[in-house]
Formats: sequence, C-alpha cells, structure tokens
Amino acid sequence: MPFGDGAQLRDVYRRMKREGYAFIASNVAEPNVLLGLLEGAEASRADLLVQISYGAMGFAGAGDAWAGLRALSSYLRAVSECYSIGIFLNLDHQQEKHLDLVERAIAARIPSSIMIDASHEPFERNVAITRKVVEMAHPRGILVEGELGIIKGAEEDVVSDEAFYTDPDDAVEFVERTGVDLLAISIGTEHGVSKGRTLTLRLDLARRVNEALREAGYDIPLVIHGSSGLSTEQLRELIRCGVCKINRDTFYQYLYTCTAYDFYRQRHESIVPPEGVRFDPETFESSNDWTPDKKAFDPRAVGKEIQRAVKEALMRFNEEIGSAGRSLFASGSGSGSGSSPS
Ligand code: 13P
Ligand code: ZN
Repeated sequence: MPFGDGAQLRDVYRRMKREGYAFIASNVAEPNVLLGLLEGAEASRADLLVQISYGAMGFAGAGDAWAGLRALSSYLRAVSECYSIGIFLNLDHQQEKHLDLVERAIAARIPSSIMIDASHEPFERNVAITRKVVEMAHPRGILVEGELGIIKGAEEDVVSDEAFYTDPDDAVEFVERTGVDLLAISIGTEHGVSKGRTLTLRLDLARRVNEALREAGYDIPLVIHGSSGLSTEQLRELIRCGVCKINRDTFYQYLYTCTAYDFYRQRHESIVPPEGVRFDPETFESSNDWTPDKKAFDPRAVGKEIQRAVKEALMRFNEEIGSAGRSLFASGSGSGSGSSPS
C-alpha cells in the first residue's frame, strides 16, 4: 500500500496493544537494509516501521540532514507502492537542537511518527521540549514518542555510561503533561553492542509503568530502545509488559558487514589478482589472462545478499514476536490470522 500516515499507525498500535504483538522498529541509512526489510515484512505479511536517525539523514544527504531525510523518505514512499503491507516512517532520536528540521518534516508531512529525545534533560525541560513537538505534530496527524529515563550506551552524539530507570509515577505525569502517543522507557537495555544475557532487564518496572499508565487512562504503547542482543524470550516478555515498539539498529549493522565480508571473502579470487599478476584497474589490463568477475564485484551482487539476509532476519523476528500474518493492510491478513507470541 502507499506509505502509511499517523492515523493508520495509531490503528496498528491499538491492535498491537490489544493483541500483544509489536514492531521491530528498524533503523535504515541506505537502500540495502531498507529493501531487505520491505521484502521481509511483505513475506511475513506484517506491517513495517522503519526509522531514520539524524545521523542517518546526514549520511544519506552528503552531510545535509534535511536533504538526506527527503531523499530517503521519497525513496521509501516510491518503493512502498510495490508492497501490500502498511509501511510507516519514524524519525528516531530527534533532539531539541534539530527542531527546525523536525518542524520542516512535519510541515511536509514526511513521517508517520517522531521520537523526540529530551531524556537527558531534567524532567521539567523534557516535558517542555516534548510538549512542544506534540503541539507541532498532532495538528498534522503525526504521532509522537517521548522518552523518560536514560538508556545506557551511545546513540550518535548522546552518550550515557549509566542507565536511569523510568519511574512509573513520573511516567504517568509525563504522558499526562506532554500528550505523547508512545513512551520509551529505560529498564536496563543498552544502545549498541550488548549481550542480552548479561543485561538485567527490569521487567517488573515495565509492567508497573504499563499498569500505572493504564490505571490513569493512558493505555499507550511502550517502546524499548537498544534491543540488539536481546533473546526471543526477552522480546516476548517485553511485549507481555505492554511494549509495542522494539528498536533495533546495531543488529542490522553487524548483519550487513558480516554478509558483505563473507561474500567478498568467498569471491576473493574473482576480485583480487593472483600473486604475481599485474593488473591495472583503470584499463583492466592484466599481465596474464586473469580478469575480475563482474558477478562478484558489481555492488548489486553483494547488495542482493545483504537484502536477503535482512529479509530472512526480519521474517524470523516477526514469527518470533507474533507479528507475522497480522498486517492490517495486506489482503489475507490483518484479521487475526497471526498468533500471539507464547
Ligand atoms: P540498538 O542499536 O542497540 O539496536 O538500538 C537501536 C535504537 O534504540 C534505535 O533508536
Ligand atoms: Zn534508541
């Protein structure tokens, strides 16, 4: 289906919260991961949420984040028409210093949702900054994710050596005063390379935040950042605690690099001239009849492998967390054909 807006995304979250499944909200910065995700979601008949950070926008825009956001989102919009599932875009970890970009993105109705990250600020400032984004985004039907508590690790230029867990009472006040549609909480996950087994996940806290919000009349989806490295069972437990958006980035980065590394390692002889052979890469002149093989060095060859690896990974995740078969938009799914994660 064509790219989905905030109202359609809200419908997906409502059903996720009701039935207990989630998005793996996947970060993209270039087309190979993006195409793999689209293929994986379509094959799973699951809706897809991709997200772009400020750094990824700059990367795609030759240093100009606004250009990069327009480029990546136009690409996403165009290719979305090739798929039947619901496809949504979240702007990930936007900061107060980038609010001009956020404002332009809202005016151009680019994203389905925006995450404003003012969690490093004192509570009152976090409320004020987040509220400002809500006031900008809601009139255009764009959802807003706020964050309370600090996630350990590095997310672009925001680095925290320590985690600060979310307090359930603060969470209720934060949601009440900001009007956010989703709340990211800190319960012990970390951004970057972390082993789920060595993390102490405060599931009790996630549960308490969820219950406190529900009792106060705000049954909104919770969000977990830094999910790379968590096990299937941990993801399922998080979903049982009211989490509907599970952010994942580092996993795809590693998968991308390992796939490319293996691909080139296996085709070394088709790319690098043998010992003693002189080869001019500009004229393709060789001191014997060795020439590189286009099937190995065409970037699309490795790109296809990366896309396939990402597709398979997302299909696996969607099965594991109960999202497979549950697209609200693809025909033949969305009417309860999926099963809840057990
Ligand atoms: P990881 O890179 O640890 O998967 O975290 C992703 C994230 O939280 C994006 O917002
Ligand atoms: Zn994050």
